[in-house]
Order: sequence, then C-alpha cells, then structure tokens
Amino acid sequence: MIIALNGRNHVKHKNENKFHYLRDEAAMLSRENNELICRVGRGTPMGDLMRQYWIPALPSSEFPRPDGPPKRMMLLGEKMVMFRDSSGRMGALEEYCPHRGASLYFGRNEEGGLRCAYHGWKFDTSGKCLDTPTEQPERRDQFCSKIKARAYPCHEVNRMIWVYLGDRPEPPPFPEFEVNLLPEAHVAEPSIMMEEANWLQNLEGDIDSAHLDWVHRRLHEDSPKPEKGIRGFWNPAGRPPILDVAPTEYGAFYSAKRILPDGNEWHRINQFIFPFHTMVTIGDGTINLRSHVPVDDHHSMLISHAAHPVQAFSNEMIAKYAKTFDEVGGFIERTNDPRSYFMTKFNKTNDYGRDLRVQEETMFCGIPFSGNLQDRAMTELMTNDAGEPIYDRTKEHLSTSDAMIVTVRRQLVNAATKFRDSGQAPANLDDVALDRVRSASVRTPPNSDWKELTKSARQALPGTAAAADVPLVI
Ligand code: FES
Ligand SMILES: [Fe+2]
Repeated sequence: MIIALNGRNHVKHKNENKFHYLRDEAAMLSRENNELICRVGRGTPMGDLMRQYWIPALPSSEFPRPDGPPKRMMLLGEKMVMFRDSSGRMGALEEYCPHRGASLYFGRNEEGGLRCAYHGWKFDTSGKCLDTPTEQPERRDQFCSKIKARAYPCHEVNRMIWVYLGDRPEPPPFPEFEVNLLPEAHVAEPSIMMEEANWLQNLEGDIDSAHLDWVHRRLHEDSPKPEKGIRGFWNPAGRPPILDVAPTEYGAFYSAKRILPDGNEWHRINQFIFPFHTMVTIGDGTINLRSHVPVDDHHSMLISHAAHPVQAFSNEMIAKYAKTFDEVGGFIERTNDPRSYFMTKFNKTNDYGRDLRVQEETMFCGIPFSGNLQDRAMTELMTNDAGEPIYDRTKEHLSTSDAMIVTVRRQLVNAATKFRDSGQAPANLDDVALDRVRSASVRTPPNSDWKELTKSARQALPGTAAAADVPLVI
C-alpha cells in the first residue's frame, strides 16, 4: 500500500505484515520543524509569514457604536487596543502609548481619536499623533508631528474586522474569500470559540476526516439527538474514509471518500488555505470560512464565518450563528485579558460538560457535539514535555488517514522556510483570487475521477449554490 503525497511516494512500511503507519522523514515532523510551524511570535518564521496576511480579529458587534469603549486584543502574541472612532472607522493601536508606555486601553475615545489617560496625548486610527497637550503650545504642533503610534490597518467587511500586522507600507490586497465578497445579507454573524492550545493542533482537527467516525459519532444509527448539541455523525458504510490529497499554490484540498448504501461514492472535499484557514463542508448549502487565528502560542480563536451563496439569511438566522454555544451554557464572564474572550463555560476545567450517561446510551463521546467542544477535549490536552499545549509531534504514529495533515504540515514548513530565506510568501498573499474556493459534499458514481467531476464545485462561482449532495449529520 503506497499513497502519493505531493506527487511522490512517501510511505515506507516499518513492517509489511504488521504496520502501515506513515514513517519516513517526509511524513514525520522533526522537533525543529514542529517549532518552526507552531510558534508565531514576532521574529519567528511562521509568525513572520502570518504577519504578511490580513487576519480576522473581532466581529463588528464588539464595537457597536462610534466613540465606544476601546477593547484589548491580542494577535500572534502582540497586544493591541481596538476602537471605533467618531466617524465609525476601526483602529487598532499597539497597547502601549508612545509617550511613556501607559496602556491605551484606559484611553478616552473621542473626537476622532484615542486620548491616553496618563497625559492626554491623542492618536487617530492611522497612529498619527493629533495632540501632545503636555508640551508648551508654541512647539506642540511641531513636536506632535514627530510622534507616531504603532497602528495596525483594519478592514471591516460582512460583520468582521480584519487586521494587518505586517510591515508593508501598503497592506496586501484583501483576501477574496467568498464570505468577504457576498452581499452582507447572505453572511451570518461569525461564530467564535477560544481554544486553549496551539493553533496548529486545533487546525489539524479540521483536516482530519477520520475522527468524524469516532469522537463525533452517535452510538447507534438510530440514536436520538441528545439534550445538548447536535446528533452525532453516522458513517453508513462503516469503513474508514479513504483520503486523496492535492497540494495547491494556496494550500491544499482533499477528498475523504466514503461509500453510500447505494454503492455511490460520497466525497467530502475540504480546503486548507494559507496561512490558517480551512473550509469544511457540512452539506447544508452554506459555505464556511474557518480561521484558526493564533492569539498567542497557547491560544487560538476558531472563527467560523458562514454564508449562503445564493440566498439571503433571515435576521434571526444571521444572529443565530453567534449563539452556537447558548445551548451549552454560553461563555464565561470575560476578564480584561483577550484570552478570556469567547471562552465557553464548558472547558477543560469541567471536562467540557461530559455526561457519562450520554456516553453510555447515545454518543461515542459524552461531551456535547456543539461547535468544536468535542474536538477541544481531544486537542487542548496534547502537550510537549514542558507542559505547553504544543504537541511534540515526534511522538506520533501517523496512519494513512493522516495524509492531509502530513501534506499541510509540509506546505507550512516549505512556506515558512521559503519566506524566511527569500522573503517570498505563498501565491495567495497577492493573488487573492486564489482564495475563491469552496468545500463541497459530492456524490459520484463508483470509481469516478472525483477531481475532474468536482472542479466547479471547488470554485466559488458567483450565483451558484454550494455542492451539498449529502448532509453531514442526518
Ligand atoms: S503615557 Fe500616554 S500620554 Fe503619557
Ligand atoms: Fe471535529
């Protein structure tokens, strides 16, 4: 048994008769490469690459009115203060005031800028200094013109605020994900969940179709929906999915093939897009951009932003997406630390709300199937020897079902190394039309060429519906 990854055969068998796990240098991740692609602080190869891209940060609803209170935020380990100015424009400034470092979080948001509470210096959304009232009036203008706060450009579209942390004087073009291009009425409120682990192990769950048949499954085909969360997944054929992976210049996509009771093939086609986005089909006609945004090395937000390509949502539906976790108790009360934002009440301190009776009678795992709650129980407890929630991948034993994960890691290692060594980023940084892709759930006849048959289903073609031949959970 050999599977092709990146067009080459990478699988060697440790023992032909006993093992079929992927075990060669290309599939295994060395300690160095694990560090290379997990860490995202300023000055790290992956962190520097991520900073080239626009990053989704907070939903528009966090800043409901001009001149409202500023909020702390953290992205890739950088602390910032975000605010909506008098004209409605969004700003994100480095948290610490350029004068003597007081936190701008306590600043007054008024008359076109944020005024530091310590000595009254004031900055607009571009970081331009508007006032230094501690300086004598005669030289104030000249002095002020020499001061600049570090400002991160913001771009707001379809209920989401994106931030650019890179060093280009002009940020790159804005990503053309379908969710950013559709009319606002087609786009839901983002659903956001904080995850207490490194961004990459959270993301890897999105491109690991095999776990559907286990952690997300219901116990029997006819098991009812439990009180909390959706009904579990059921694989009609009972055989594990067969993965077929295709690396691309924007990332990679793959099919997880399962056989339907009528003998036809069911292809769940999911995407990985640089630097941390996925698209995972749920087969209900919606499209969904899932962004695993690193807050720091130990926390990432899963921002799940859904839209319908050909139908406007009702206002009720738009709001409903942001309430995904209401049925499992919602979120904890926030502290003043952004890592407490969108933290569900069910979390690792209380076993994610596991109900052993549900596990006995209804679901394979007794944690509610709500957002990524079950997934978090699997990924947040993975640690390295230092106890950080950054898994030591040298300890793994990969199987053929991990083929997409192997490809994506390789893409990330190559992209981070290339950017570090030559300054060249993946093609979708500037050619944003490459972001116009979709996930798809497609039924095909037996033994068909799925890639050929799904060419258009994998494209975000305006005015066309998302391929939803088979729903994920019925
Ligand atoms: S520290 Fe902000 S004005 Fe002085
Ligand atoms: Fe999952």
